[in-house]
Amino acid sequence: MQKNIVITGGTSGIGFCCAKYLLEKGYHVIITGRDQQNLDRALAGLGNQAKGILSDTSQLKEIEKLVNIIKSKYPSIDGLFINAGIFKAASFEKTEEDIFDETMNINFKGAFFTIQKFLPILNNPASIVLNTSIVVFKAFADTAVYTASKAALESIAKVLNIELASKGIRVNIVSPGVTKSPIQKKSGMTDAAIENLLEHFSENSPIGRIVLPEDIAPVVEFLLSNNSKVLRNEKIIIDGGTTL
Ligand SMILES: NC(=O)c1ccc[n+]([C@@H]2O[C@H](COP(=O)([O-])OP(=O)(O)OC[C@H]3O[C@@H](n4cnc5c(N)ncnc54)[C@H](OP(=O)(O)O)[C@@H]3O)[C@@H](O)[C@H]2O)c1
Repeated sequence: MQKNIVITGGTSGIGFCCAKYLLEKGYHVIITGRDQQNLDRALAGLGNQAKGILSDTSQLKEIEKLVNIIKSKYPSIDGLFINAGIFKAASFEKTEEDIFDETMNINFKGAFFTIQKFLPILNNPASIVLNTSIVVFKAFADTAVYTASKAALESIAKVLNIELASKGIRVNIVSPGVTKSPIQKKSGMTDAAIENLLEHFSENSPIGRIVLPEDIAPVVEFLLSNNSKVLRNEKIIIDGGTTL
């Protein structure tokens, strides 16, 4: 039977690529985004099998609305890819309260309450995949609050695997390395800085190139599928070996 999968932040980069991959594999895919234009553009790129719902993950009311819309259209959800996220580069000393709040509200609070609000519509069994980052275990300058948000997200996976086990819900993690996506441009980095970053991570990688969203999609699909049904709290690092 076809599985219903929800991807938060499916309008670009890793989320969009995962949506495309899952659709090709025959899953039903619902993506979310916070901007109607971006959502429409993504849906046009994914074709008419894909569904999209506008929902700002940093707003609890919008998460509740998202769940209600899905509830009215689908019997249940088999997989949830918690992917929506932002990165704003800022040194620890210069991290202002607005960047702190925005990052934590989207990357952690939004993720936390998305999972909580989805519980009543998750199937038994269901798989949740969290998109964190290598920053959780390898230090990078100018990422203090981003790192904290991803570490917080990763930290709840083990608790959820205990608390939600009786509902047939399991939680695993993908931990990407620097991956070429629109996130770098959105972070406020200049084109030259982005080029330097991507070049650095290509040259210093055992695979000799930067990680692409296409490298991440099959791993996410594996964690959402029955092929990984006994996995709990596994973290799959997808960085081409750059942190070895
Ligand atoms: N690229 C990397 O190097 C890398 C490495 C490790 C982990 N990650 C993680 O991977 C995830 C996806 O990032 P990406 O690289 O694919 O970047 P991206 O292309 O910027 O994708 C982020 C997605 O999240 C959405 N989003 C942001 N804030 C949202 C909100 N408040 N409500 C709903 N959707 C929201 C974005 O929508 P808009 O288009 O409207 O902004 C977009 O669809 C993030 O969690 C990121 O932290 C990325």
